[in-house]
Amino acid sequence: MFYHKLKPFPENFLWGASTSAYQVEGAYQEDGKGLSVQDMHEPPHGITDFKVASDHYHHMLEDVKLMAEMGLKAYRFSIAWSRILHDGDGEINQKGIDFYQDLINALIANHIEPIVTMYHFDLPYELHKQGGWCNRKTIDAFEKYARILFENYGDKVKYWLTINEQNVMINHPNAMNPGRIPSKKELYQQCHNMFVAAAKATVLCHELCPNGKIGPAPNITAIYPEKCNPADVIAADNWESIRCWLYLDMAVYGRYNTLVWSYLEEKGYTPIIEEGDMEIIQQGKPDFLGVNYYATATVCEAKNDGTDCQPRNGDQQVMIGEEGVYRAAVNHYLEETQFGWMIDSIGMRVTLRRIYDRYHLPLLITENGLGAKDEMSEDGKIHDAYRIDYLIRHFHQAQLAISDGVDLIGYCPWAFIDLVSTHQGYGKRYGFVYVDREEQDLKELKRMKKDSFYWYQQVIKQNGLD
Ligand code: BG6
Repeated sequence: MFYHKLKPFPENFLWGASTSAYQVEGAYQEDGKGLSVQDMHEPPHGITDFKVASDHYHHMLEDVKLMAEMGLKAYRFSIAWSRILHDGDGEINQKGIDFYQDLINALIANHIEPIVTMYHFDLPYELHKQGGWCNRKTIDAFEKYARILFENYGDKVKYWLTINEQNVMINHPNAMNPGRIPSKKELYQQCHNMFVAAAKATVLCHELCPNGKIGPAPNITAIYPEKCNPADVIAADNWESIRCWLYLDMAVYGRYNTLVWSYLEEKGYTPIIEEGDMEIIQQGKPDFLGVNYYATATVCEAKNDGTDCQPRNGDQQVMIGEEGVYRAAVNHYLEETQFGWMIDSIGMRVTLRRIYDRYHLPLLITENGLGAKDEMSEDGKIHDAYRIDYLIRHFHQAQLAISDGVDLIGYCPWAFIDLVSTHQGYGKRYGFVYVDREEQDLKELKRMKKDSFYWYQQVIKQNGLD
């Protein structure tokens, strides 16, 4: 659709930026924090672990000052479950409560809206040892944790996100499971249990936080068929439903997507659904939907020749295929990042339109950004023109989606500050703020503003692009 005049970004648009606890905080065992599954990962040779990360735990006030200088209207961060409850379920760790209380207070003092993710890939290790999300005790532990968060921060935090990228944890479980990777049957049981946990937290939020709004934050992307060959279209539908709609249909409509349920039956992956589960899932309706968008995927007809091509060695955006379901194909219309992720700003408009059309709830972009090997130039600055270019294209498509009628309430690029990437450590940076450290050499962890920092500051000031 071509418009002679685009609709402006709404007033009070939440221009934000995102991070997650285990990727940015460091202090992995300080002040009573327990271990999480991320702390137990053996990183690939030469890649950093998450022990110090960007040391935000010790630089929190300095970092909030930079957010204020950039003019952020919102900051999306996650709370480390094992900082609040050392073993995920026992005694409250007051120092953990205080850390996030201080962060929230500092944000509010600087007129920055806190957007809190309750759980971002960092399940407490003690819960993991007891079966993690396969064990229904984890549902109870999450509900208890949610209650603590709402009771302590519910008067100040308006926007809550339950679970970050549940669909990534199920489809690409490598990064979340130290040790053995669960079978698909187990993963879909975990998935079901997470639906119950998220719904319980949603119900609780509505009970305890009169002004609170809560929603999920899955990684959603439109899936394209490689050709107009109808078999490719079926493959694209298959994968879009399995990867995306399952998660949002459950959150919004409280029911399993029909196509996905048939897939689960065919493969023998159906979960055990206990009495009362579907009722609570139906009660836990979100107020808005968080959307993490990085890249579209293109697929073609699946083969059924006995070679299951899903060895789980892809990542969030690099999908390989599954026998009888879909097979990854190349999209020759798109460029790639240095790390092989497709760059598809128009695909973001497609994705937002599809989501809004299906669910008619306000949308908040909770992640989107460019991972690159940023380097400091000889003048001591970080000239990340490629990131600015990437974001201009995506912001423009966001405005087109708004003009299409999508109710987009905010945009939180990943990431506010450089942090440890899920797979490529510190070699893949996303921030508006550079952190001077190397993969192993921590140096002084000095904060430096990249060119994109000043550019985004201007965008926020004028509420949109030129
Ligand atoms: C999202 C995750 O999938 O992608 C983030 O929610 C992650 O935690 C981001 O960092 C970028 O991925 P990566 O692998 O480049 O760090």
